[in-house]
Amino acid sequence: MNNTENQVYVIFGASGDLTKRKLVPAIYSLFVQNLLPEKFALLGVSRTEFSDNEFRAKMKSAIKEFKEIDDDSMVDEFIKKMFYTSINFNETASYKNLNEKIIGLRKITNISGNTIFYLSTPPSLYGLIPQNLAAVGLNKQDDGWKRLIIEKPFGYDLKSALKLKDELLKDWDEEQLFRIDHYLGKETVQNLLVTRFSNGIFEPLWNRNFIHHIEITSSENIGVEKRGGYYDTSGALRDMVQNHLLQVVGLTAMEPPSSLQPIAIRNEILKVFQSFRPIKKEDVKDIAIRGQYLSSSIKGKTVSGYREEDGVSPESVTETYAALKFYIDNWRWGGVPFYIRTGKRLPTRVTEVVIHFKQTPHFLFAQNRLCDDCNQLVIRIQPDEGILLKIGMKTPGAGFEVQNANMNFHYSDFTNQRIPSAYERLLYDTMKGDATLFARTEEVLEAWKFLTPIIECWKNDEDVPLFGYPAGTWGPEHADDLIEEKEMRWRYPCKNLADDGVYCEL
Ligand SMILES: NC(=O)c1ccc[n+]([C@@H]2O[C@H](COP(=O)([O-])OP(=O)(O)OC[C@H]3O[C@@H](n4cnc5c(N)ncnc54)[C@H](OP(=O)(O)O)[C@@H]3O)[C@@H](O)[C@H]2O)c1
Repeated sequence: MNNTENQVYVIFGASGDLTKRKLVPAIYSLFVQNLLPEKFALLGVSRTEFSDNEFRAKMKSAIKEFKEIDDDSMVDEFIKKMFYTSINFNETASYKNLNEKIIGLRKITNISGNTIFYLSTPPSLYGLIPQNLAAVGLNKQDDGWKRLIIEKPFGYDLKSALKLKDELLKDWDEEQLFRIDHYLGKETVQNLLVTRFSNGIFEPLWNRNFIHHIEITSSENIGVEKRGGYYDTSGALRDMVQNHLLQVVGLTAMEPPSSLQPIAIRNEILKVFQSFRPIKKEDVKDIAIRGQYLSSSIKGKTVSGYREEDGVSPESVTETYAALKFYIDNWRWGGVPFYIRTGKRLPTRVTEVVIHFKQTPHFLFAQNRLCDDCNQLVIRIQPDEGILLKIGMKTPGAGFEVQNANMNFHYSDFTNQRIPSAYERLLYDTMKGDATLFARTEEVLEAWKFLTPIIECWKNDEDVPLFGYPAGTWGPEHADDLIEEKEMRWRYPCKNLADDGVYCEL
């Protein structure tokens, strides 16, 4: 059911990559599904000068490039809803013009004051634009709601995140802020909630009594591509761990919320973040491993090392791989280690959560079976989305030999259901004002606080090594040492959910 209210959707940074690749194609999908409000206008804003028609033509070719289009007439119908204005982001006078443009738009489209401001600009403008919008009253909600959508990164460290918080909350209420973490828009991430809380069989086991440890991997097989300049100021910890991976930890470890209200879910995630055992500076080298990919040959093709990539300093010490071991000090998780890792130029692109259950108290069927593999529940976020349960089964024949059997479900089995893109889901939520899947201020600050000792150590302590790893491998071998238990190791995920091994199809 479409229950969105009439609104003007303003995108700052409308001439940029994200707008053409993700935002406009996602809004077009909503249009095709009849999910946009009856009266809707999209206003693109950037420094570059375009007429409305030039912007429409640019967006039309973006939609055609990034979506499969059968019918041009739908696109033509959609782009009529688009308008454009250029701006000097630093000049207050520009925002007066913008205000007038929006007032004019409302008049011709007969839309009330409901307005969304999406900041898809360099992060250096995340404080400035909202402040200037407020200076011309575009944060005021007397004539309709106003919402501010912010792309990651939400700060660079705790200090800058606190500064950004002060800048935003000076003129805007927390309820008006939507921080996009596109991971949370993925169906399979949301399915973590459904898997846990709609099945009576998992939740009773979901604690320290039955779970040995939890492993979360998010790997990419590509390098930094054209984003070397940006990435070199960021690194794996800031780019992936602070936001995406810790959000996945939050959904995996949270208590059941009292309802599906955004506040109830976000409160539970925040409690998880507040329960992270603080990391001591002196422990960083033992619980956090960083690495950087080196030139190597993958499938007969030589690929560059990180320091040879465009936009990257030849002396860069930015990590392209990070692995961490940590604890959540609460009743549910006391003593259960969490292992997370992420990296670029790893063997395959995969994101998954692996729940490693404890062994039976007494193992009757002695043999060479890796106890680590006995009972795992793998929740695959991408690709080959689905879940896999590994259980011991009797090998046919004499005796009692046990072997692992896989029970798996693939999202692709829901063949008649279309899976919306993450941006499609999240943008629709911003239109409806549903903040469930958006990070709120305290979460962001807690995440930065938790990682600060690692950030500082990696920056200041030259004794903490940065390990090189050949592109196409699973990162520095030292990451294996994080898992201290005998016979335990990181899972080697493959493209196919059910495969597990060093030599599988990648
Ligand atoms: N692309 C992605 O997949 C992705 C993923 C996650 C997060 N993000 C975040 O989303 C935001 C937008 O990403 P993007 O890839 O679209 O970036 P982009 O292509 O580099 O630029 C976005 C827009 O900002 C404007 N801009 C660039 N430099 C500026 C400056 N110094 N002052 C004022 N305006 C400037 C550009 O337009 P004009 O030059 O016309 O003003 C452009 O329209 C960034 O914060 C990025 O970190 C992007």
